[in-house]
Amino acid sequence: MKTNIGINEKNTLAVATALAKLLADESILLTKTRNAHWNVEGPDFHSMHLFFESQYNALDETVDKVAERIRALGHYAPATLKEFLELTSLTEKRSNKNSSESFLKDLVGDHEAIIIQLRENADAFANKYKDSGTSDFITGLMEEHEKMAWMLRAHLK
Ligand SMILES: [Fe+2]
Repeated sequence: MKTNIGINEKNTLAVATALAKLLADESILLTKTRNAHWNVEGPDFHSMHLFFESQYNALDETVDKVAERIRALGHYAPATLKEFLELTSLTEKRSNKNSSESFLKDLVGDHEAIIIQLRENADAFANKYKDSGTSDFITGLMEEHEKMAWMLRAHLK
C-alpha cells in the first residue's frame, strides 16, 4: 500500500536517499568502532575496550533506527555491505597503529563528519523537503553523535 503521509513522492525520495547515505556512514562507523574494541592495545586496554563497546552498542541502535525511518517513509533501506561501501562518504583506511590515541582520533573525525552532514540535512529536510519528522529525528541523532564525539575527544587531552 502506498505511503500517504502528506509529503510528496519527490520529497520522500530525496529524504530517503540522504538517509541511505547516512545509514551507510553509520554502518561503517559501527564497524570501525568494533575494530577499536577488538584491536586496541596499550596500558589503557581494559578501559578502552569497554568504552568502545559502549559506543558500538549505541551505534548499533542508531543503524536500526535510520533503516526503519527509511521504511516509514515508504522506501527500502540498503542492507548489504557492498551498498554501504558504495554509499558511504567515510573511509575505512586508517593508520596501522593500534593505540587508543590512533583509534580515538580516527573515530572523532568520522563522528564530526557525520555531525556536519546531519546539521545540513536537518535544515534541508524541514525547509526544502517539508519533512519535519525526519528533520527532528536526525537532530536527535546529531546530539547523540555530539555526545559520543565529546567522549572520544575527552580521552585525547
Ligand atoms: Fe566484545
